[in-house]
Amino acid sequence: MQYKGRGFTVVCAVVATLAGFLMLLTFLSHSAESENEEELPKKFFIAPPPFTPGIFPCSQCHQGMPANRKPRKLEQMHQDIVLKHMPNGWCFDCHNPDDRDKLRLANGRLIKFEESYYLCGQCHGTVFRDWKVGLHGKRTGMWNGEKKYLLCVNCHWPHEPTFKPIQPLPPPVRPSDIK
Ligand code: HEC
Ligand code: HEC
Ligand code: HEC
Ligand code: HEC
Repeated sequence: MQYKGRGFTVVCAVVATLAGFLMLLTFLSHSAESENEEELPKKFFIAPPPFTPGIFPCSQCHQGMPANRKPRKLEQMHQDIVLKHMPNGWCFDCHNPDDRDKLRLANGRLIKFEESYYLCGQCHGTVFRDWKVGLHGKRTGMWNGEKKYLLCVNCHWPHEPTFKPIQPLPPPVRPSDIK
């Protein structure tokens, strides 16, 4: 009777140890996953993509429309988009030909327009790194809490990202000169 009781205790202890070990394993694999997934800071909120009203979702027109991969001057739509970025680049270096509502990275991964910083980061790695830590671009919020970042495209039009020179304006009139 006593012997049987002890055996039961041993079995219980072994089961408990195993369960604990499994829990530890799950915990470890989970934290490793979330670490690798995104090296972005926690509590990371992005301003919405600055779309022209009514242009998104792109599929409202592009669904069922065959993708035209030929580099050309667009005449029926998007006439305002003339690429002045990436010599010899074309729309499908960034846009996904099969589902126009997504962007596409060089490795084939599809990303949402809310994540376009990954796209820019492929070629502008150092700027991307600076942006993540708040040295480039604009970051608001709390130093130790929620932060809000502006997307690269909130400031740089991706089709012609260089800033235009600002028109110089005359200085303000001195109050003493106002008659
Ligand atoms: C109102 C309809 C409409 C909407 C909305 C629209 N497109 Fe288009 N798009 C067109 C048409 C029409 C063409 C073909 C223009 C031409 O060949 O001159 C085109 C061409 C393109 C092309 C050139 C390659 C190709 O397949 O012809 C790209 C890239 C593109 N669109 C991306 C987008 C993206 C990204 C969005 C959403 C942000 C979008 N479009 C929203 C109508 C639309
Ligand atoms: C360097 C990458 C890149 C290239 C090349 C590129 N696009 Fe884009 N495009 C973007 C990104 C990123 C956005 C999203 C901007 C935003 O969030 O509002 C965008 C937005 C658009 C939109 C929506 C514009 C609006 O008014 O809101 C259209 C339409 C579009 N692209 C068409 C094209 C066409 C057509 C070409 C080729 C002639 C092209 N793009 C080439 C990255 C690119
Ligand atoms: C495939 C590579 C590639 C991608 C993706 C890319 N760029 Fe560029 N970008 C370039 C190259 C190359 C240049 C320099 C040549 C030029 O200006 O055309 C450049 C130039 C620029 C410039 C101008 C730099 C200057 O000195 O004036 C800005 C700003 C810029 N890119 C922003 C972006 C943004 C924002 C995105 C994402 C929407 C992006 N780029 C995506 C390759 C890329
Ligand atoms: C708050 C606005 C803002 C945001 C957000 C922003 N930039 Fe810029 N960026 C600027 C300004 C301003 C300059 C300086 C322009 C100049 O000197 O002509 C600049 C310069 C650049 C240049 C050229 C100079 C250099 O250091 O190589 C590149 C490339 C660039 N940005 C890419 C990006 C990318 C990629 C992102 C997102 C990861 C981004 N920017 C986000 C405002 C911004």
